Amino acid sequence: MSEAYAKAIAIAPNIYWVGAIDWKVRDFHGYSTNRGSTYNAFLIVDEKITLIDTVKAPFFGEMMQRIQSVVDPALIDYIVSNHAEMDHSGSLPAAIQAIQPEKVFCSMMGQKALVEHFGELPLTVVKTNDEIPLGKNTLRFVETRMLHWPDSMFCYLKEEEILFSQDAFGMHLASDRMYSDELPEDVIRYESKKYFANILLPYAPQVLKLLQVFPTLNMPVKLLCPDHGPLHRADWIGRMISWYSDFAVQKKARKAVIAYSTMWGSTEMMAMALGEGLRECGIELKILPLNGTHRSDVVTELWDAAAFIVGSPTINNNMYPVVADLLCYVRGLRPKNLVGGAFGSYGWSGESMGMVSEQLKSFGMNVIDPIKAKYVPQKDDLMACNEYGKLIAAAIDTLIAAQNNPERI
Ligand code: FEO
Repeated sequence: MSEAYAKAIAIAPNIYWVGAIDWKVRDFHGYSTNRGSTYNAFLIVDEKITLIDTVKAPFFGEMMQRIQSVVDPALIDYIVSNHAEMDHSGSLPAAIQAIQPEKVFCSMMGQKALVEHFGELPLTVVKTNDEIPLGKNTLRFVETRMLHWPDSMFCYLKEEEILFSQDAFGMHLASDRMYSDELPEDVIRYESKKYFANILLPYAPQVLKLLQVFPTLNMPVKLLCPDHGPLHRADWIGRMISWYSDFAVQKKARKAVIAYSTMWGSTEMMAMALGEGLRECGIELKILPLNGTHRSDVVTELWDAAAFIVGSPTINNNMYPVVADLLCYVRGLRPKNLVGGAFGSYGWSGESMGMVSEQLKSFGMNVIDPIKAKYVPQKDDLMACNEYGKLIAAAIDTLIAAQNNPERI
């Protein structure tokens, strides 16, 4: 066995992290990954040596180096593909080619997705509660459809009580630390929230269902191993599950997000006056200029906000492109329980705020009629924006009251 430049890291007796750290990635299908990411893969050294997941294609060599620091990759008997998305399956064809494993396990939908990605592969389908003996250890499978792809599944190492949860409980965070308890809690919470809001939000009902069912599956977890970011152990496991319950319920705070773009500063003046109205009512406020705020950071703030207020000037009878980009992104993520608002400045016809308002309505939001100002807002316009903020604050309080007393609806 030749010397490896990248080595495996033991996470339990005879179980190793053999993934890759992507320090450079800054965009993950439209989501800003300012802290990079990891693609976690795991090696179980037992009578049947097993590789759990692979890594994004450019990191194949790094994964193989880490494996080689423990065993000759050719000795691997089984590969498990928990999720067919390319950040975990991109290396799978090359790994199969290099390793020639006895079996490659995936879910039924995983088989479909992997064949559609890569052509014919030697795959063995497993389903929930199927178990495979590895020697001293046993691997059990749990399908987690639509979390967040149809093929997604978890696998559970019974004797060591380790849950390999693919994307769930993960985050985009490159680090030289292996465990969440070695990193600042505020960073872990923010990146978990960002991951949930940008990846899992459309599937929040399925997350809640899984969290209800999981305790009945008789799978105590000592180590929680997602496919991105740090692993979770000890009291961090309960903390992650509790956070996921909060994220999935989408319980709203007395909080508003104002996202806007501006041409000559007029829509920005409106945003500030509107924000003052909200602030006077004690509403927690995030004002996010879209010329410096990534769409995925807006969505991260939105998941617990009760109001989404969008400002756009009118340009060529239309809304600003960066505003259209944000609305397109938000539409796909389907956030729930939001009051909507729209505002903006205009010169001639002023279509943008009506367009924004109609889009927010189409997302199912209760939208307060939009407000506009011609060219440069004057004192009366800014007072009207301030009042608009107060109107939205009142709508937020109505929404929060209904949330806290659902029987009154
Ligand atoms: Fe980490 Fe859904 O891929």
